[in-house]
Parts: sequence; C-alpha cells; structure tokens
Amino acid sequence: MKVIEVKNAEELSMVAYEKIVDKINSKEEVTLGLATGGSPLGIYELFRINKPNTAHVTTVNLDEYVGLNENDQTSYHSYMKKQLFNHLSFKANYLPNGNTTNLNEACKAYEEIIRKNPVDLQLLGLGENGHIGFNEPGTSFTSSTHIVELTKSTRNANKIYFENEKDVPTYAVTMGIGSILKAKEIVIIAYGLKKAAAVKEMLIGQVSDGCPATALQNHPNVTVVVDEEAYTLCK
Ligand code: F6R
Repeated sequence: MKVIEVKNAEELSMVAYEKIVDKINSKEEVTLGLATGGSPLGIYELFRINKPNTAHVTTVNLDEYVGLNENDQTSYHSYMKKQLFNHLSFKANYLPNGNTTNLNEACKAYEEIIRKNPVDLQLLGLGENGHIGFNEPGTSFTSSTHIVELTKSTRNANKIYFENEKDVPTYAVTMGIGSILKAKEIVIIAYGLKKAAAVKEMLIGQVSDGCPATALQNHPNVTVVVDEEAYTLCK
C-alpha cells in the first residue's frame, strides 16, 4: 500500500480530491465508489467549489442504513444528495436500498449493479475498529453486499448525526469486503488521533478478519492518505 502523509484534514481532502479528479478525467466512462461519514466531507466540498465535469461518471455508494426512508435527513441517500448529487450532474448515482421488506433481494440487486459498473476508483473511510464500508470485524474477506448488524462502537461513533442515540439504526446494508476489493484502485482516507490505532493495524497488522481494513494489504493498488495524527503510531 502506498502511504501519503499530509499535515491535516484540509490537505488530505485536497490530495484525495485531486486523485479522484485525475481518474474522472482519464476515461470517457468512469465509475466511482463513494463513502459517507465525516472523512470525505472536505472532498465533497471541493467538488461543490470546483465543479469538475461528472456527466460521464457513475457513482456507487458503499452503504445505507436499514429502515430509513431515502428522504429521511439522516439517510445516506440524503447525505449524498446534500453533499454532492444536488450540486453536480452525474450519469447515474446508486446507493443500496435499505428501506425494503426484501433486503436479501436488494443486496443481490446491488451486487449486480456493481458487476455492471466495475469500480475504477473506490474512496473509503476507516472505522475506529478497522471497519471499511460497514464491514465490521469478523466479516469474511470474500463477502458480497449483505445486511450487517452495526457494532456498539460504530453506532456510538455515528450518534452525532442523530437527534437521539436510540435513533441510530441497528442494521445496515453494505458492499462486502469482496465487493470492495474488486475495485481497480482504492483510496482510503483517515485523519485524527482517533484513527491512529486502526491505521497502524491496517498498514502493519497481520492480515485478519479481526481488522477488516487489513484486507487492503491484499489489493494491488491502494493509496492510504493520512494526516500526521492518524499516522502517529506508525513512526
Ligand atoms: C461510510 C462508511 C464507513 C465510514 C467510517 C469512517 O460510508 O462506509 O466505513 O467511512 O465509519 O467514518 P468517519 O469518516 O465518519 O470517521
């Protein structure tokens, strides 16, 4: 894995944004894998400011909560619209459907979307427990899109986005680790001391499903963009 260490979150966003835009400009048809959460917010802001041409770009997001209406302000559908999709015009935007009575069917349908739109560049954030997407510790490295019960640690990290802690959904639909590893290129971003232990484990820990991000050690084209704080335990 190639590591790019930057000073802070602002620089991290610029470096990652430029990598993504280079990819967008490199081909006539591009599929981007996108993430939500706090880490990519600076990147999406740069998209809104610079407005690169994305008319030829298809996006597939990593995950969505189960049981939230798409229009619910806390859904990842709403997050993506607010941060990106309402501001730039894309060829197509896909997120998993977490609001259906047939979740297994929705998982299969999403995997088919990924098969038809092979991801050129997948952007990932990193969970404090080493999760990627919502693939929590213990998830098989060959998993496809599936339903997951969120851990206490993940629900706790995400409660800031909800009015009450009890509103944080318990389940989500996520691309599997196997689905993520199919991307031709992966850029994973992490900043702040809270991510330092997970960054160290991802980079130099033993490859094990106890830390899902160690699966990236098996991928041939991963760039890790970290700030000084997140990289602090690796020096
Ligand atoms: C989001 C996602 C998660 C986050 C991770 C880090 O779509 O799949 O894996 O990337 O939980 O979240 P933040 O960036 O909020 O620290």
